[in-house]
This record gives sequence, structure tokens and C-alpha cells, in this order.
Amino acid sequence: MSGQEINSRSINSQSIKSVLLHPDSQGTDLKKWLAGNGGAGIEKALSNPDNIIPTIREAGLRGMGGSGFPAYKKWQFVSDQTANPDKYLICNGNEDEPGTFKDACLLSHSPNQVIEGALITALANQINKIVFYINPDQETSLANIRYAVEQWQASDFFSRIEEKLATQLSIRVMESSGHYVGGEETAAIESVEGNFPFPRGKPPYPATAGVHGCPTLVNNVETLANVSHILRNGAKWYQALGLDECSGTKLYCLSGDVVKPGVYELPMGTPLSDLIYIHGGGMLLDKKLKAVFSGGASSSILTPEDIDVPLDFDSVHERGSSLGTGAMIVVSEGTGIVKRVTEYVNFYAHSSCGQCPPCKTGTFYISQLLNKINTGQASSVDLESLINLCKILPGSGRCHLLDGAVKIVDSSLLHFADEYKSSLKR
Ligand SMILES: Cc1cc2nc3c(=O)[nH]c(=O)nc-3n(C[C@H](O)[C@H](O)[C@H](O)COP(=O)(O)O)c2cc1C
Ligand code: SF4
Repeated sequence: MSGQEINSRSINSQSIKSVLLHPDSQGTDLKKWLAGNGGAGIEKALSNPDNIIPTIREAGLRGMGGSGFPAYKKWQFVSDQTANPDKYLICNGNEDEPGTFKDACLLSHSPNQVIEGALITALANQINKIVFYINPDQETSLANIRYAVEQWQASDFFSRIEEKLATQLSIRVMESSGHYVGGEETAAIESVEGNFPFPRGKPPYPATAGVHGCPTLVNNVETLANVSHILRNGAKWYQALGLDECSGTKLYCLSGDVVKPGVYELPMGTPLSDLIYIHGGGMLLDKKLKAVFSGGASSSILTPEDIDVPLDFDSVHERGSSLGTGAMIVVSEGTGIVKRVTEYVNFYAHSSCGQCPPCKTGTFYISQLLNKINTGQASSVDLESLINLCKILPGSGRCHLLDGAVKIVDSSLLHFADEYKSSLKR
């Protein structure tokens, strides 16, 4: 497909309401935030904490860290835990997946909306320990969130929240290890405890036993950033922001072979065609679209046939892929898919924490085979081995890293089999 193609879901760019990237949401100064979009959400939350979870439920807020899990469900599990005096909230800003750079944008440019969201979340779930868990490479995010947290701690809101919680509220801003796997929720819990981020087996789930055995809620930065706006403007307002049945807006990270890469806040359910051809300015050098690595680079590849797919969790899932973090890496004709997939799998093999043998050896072998194929040194037997590994490996790791690595290989074998065959040794 070349040029613009707009389908029935397309929206007039004039009618797009930005919320998280709205100018009133920007800045590190708490006073400025309170004079604009801030403060009203936490006021409503303080006036009726029991109404927070029902509001989030009605709004239809989904987890933006990759899974799209309904936020209220996880919150309800944590809220129901009453035996332990301590509960944790980890605001997950590890963000190390290829093509994903939205959380850094929120943390560095608009930390107050993330913090207000986290405070409301703590109130809803009787959480007394908040940890901002941030990638150490994001120096501006770390500095700005620290600066903003200090202002909140000195504000009247803070003591009012402590009063409602009937206990002291602690906030810690910590650097994650920076490993990609450290963003997995149980790995984040290990990190907060001071350990290497090895993902844990589940159950127990974090909601019942997380940091030091305490109930723990792990939410993505973008998920929490939406919370103050929902409380301030109401569930119906949030629902109406999305297209068709979808609620809210989404931060899409557009990168690769497009004219204008960047972070775009658009209604949830915006078609892929709009993102690339309208907001992203189209394909670089007017080349044809070849593929899109969706959801970061850990989901099945989308092809030009999927150009009309609405970018929401359910619709992308129906196409056999996933929205994930909302990262779309665009690839144009002329780019070798085998080379691209090899680069991503090298990253996953390097990122495997190594505690599950099928992941440690599986990602290593897949990476070896791909490197062999990519450099024209592989035989058809090597290709067969790659195909077989993609059949036996899924589901044999503790976390999604292994499955994500296999998905891009498997889907590239499905859609670009000819490229693999033509890369073999003659
Ligand atoms: C290997 C791996 C890395 C992950 N990295 C992140 C991350 O950097 N940030 C994030 O929010 N979620 C990440 N996740 C997803 C988390 O496990 C978890 O689902 C998420 O933080 C929950 O937040 P949400 O419900 O708000 O989406 C990762 C998952 C895996 C398997
Ligand atoms: S699947 Fe891989 S990254 Fe995940 S816990 Fe197992 S070895 Fe570690």
C-alpha cells in the first residue's frame, strides 16, 4: 500500500483529544499541575475512596505495560488483601523493550500526572509503600520524578492521604537494574527486594505475595498516568475518548521507516493505517510497507494485509498478534526480514536471565541459527531445526520473554518463508 488509505474508523485529527500529552499535563512544577489538569482527581478520590475502583472499572482502563489486563481486576485483588499491614505499589518504568519509549516521555515531561495517579491508586488499595521503578538510563525521568515527589510530600495532599490510610505513606524512587527482563512484574519485585531480577514462578501472584511477601500491585507508568484524569473527568468521559467499543487514549510509539517517528497519543482503536500514513507522515521515501513489528518486538509480525487493524488490545489479538506496549516498528520493502529478526532475537538471547533451561539454550540456539541463515552459511537442515524449535519452545519459560522471541521468528517464517529459503547456502 502506498499513500494514504483511510478506513471507516479513521478520525479527523482536529477531533483528537490529547490527555496525557496535553500541554496542561506537562511540567515538573506541582503548582502548575494543580493550576491546570491536576488536583481535582485526588480531591474526588479523597472524598470517596470506596468509589475509586468502581470508577476505574466503569472507565474500562486496561494495563498499558503489555498485557492489557483490566486495571480494576488487579486492584480488586490487592484491595481485598487485608491481613498484612504493608502493601506495595510498583510503578513500572523499566521500559527496555525495542521500539518502546513512551514511559520515559511521561516520566520526564509530566511526572505529576504519574504521581497523582499512583497516590490515588494507593488510596484505592490501602497501599502504604510506593516505589517508582525506573530504568537507570533515563536520567531525566529519575531527576524529574524525584523533584516532583518532593513537592507532593511537602503538600497538604500527602498528609490527607496518610490520614485516610491511617498510616505513614512512603515513596521511594529507585533505579531498576536496566535489564529488559527486570520489567517483568515478579522480576521487579525481586529488584525492589535488592536481588537480581530473576522472574518468579506464579502462583503466588504479586497481589497476594509480592515484595517481602506483602500484597503488591505492579502497574505500568502509562496506566497510572491515566488515573487522575479518569477520577477528575469521570468514567463516561474516559470511555468516550476511544473509538467504537474502546476506552481512552493510547500512547503509540511509532518508529522505523516512517517520515515522522515519535510518541502519538491517539484514541484507543486508531487504525494502523492512520498511525502510519496520517500521523506518521507516511512511509520514508514513499516506499511500500513490508511489515510491522507490533507491541515492541515481542509479538507476531503484522503485514500489509493488517493495515486496517484497529490498534486496540482485542482487535490486534484477533489478528494473531498483540498491541503490547503500543510500539509499532515499521519496516519498508527492501529491508531484509531475516536480518531484522536476527537482531531482535540476539537481543532476547542476551536478555534471557538464564534460569529456565529451555529459554537459556533455546534463545541461544535460535539466535545462532538465525545468524547462520542471515550470513548465508545455513543449510536446509538448519532451517528445519529453527522451525522445530519454534514448535517446542513456547510455554516452557517462566516469563513471556521466551514466547515473545519465538513469536517473531515463527511469524516471520510464516510470512517471509521465501526470504529464509533464499538466504540458505547454495
Ligand atoms: C520480559 C518482560 C519485560 C517487561 N517489561 C516491562 C516494563 O518495562 N514495563 C512494564 O510496565 N511492564 C513490563 N512487563 C509487563 C509486566 O510484567 C506487567 O505485566 C506490567 O508491569 C503490569 O502493568 P499494567 O497492568 O499496568 O500493564 C514486562 C514483561 C516481560 C515478560
Ligand atoms: S523465560 Fe527466560 S527470561 Fe523468563 S524467567 Fe525463564 S530464563 Fe528468565
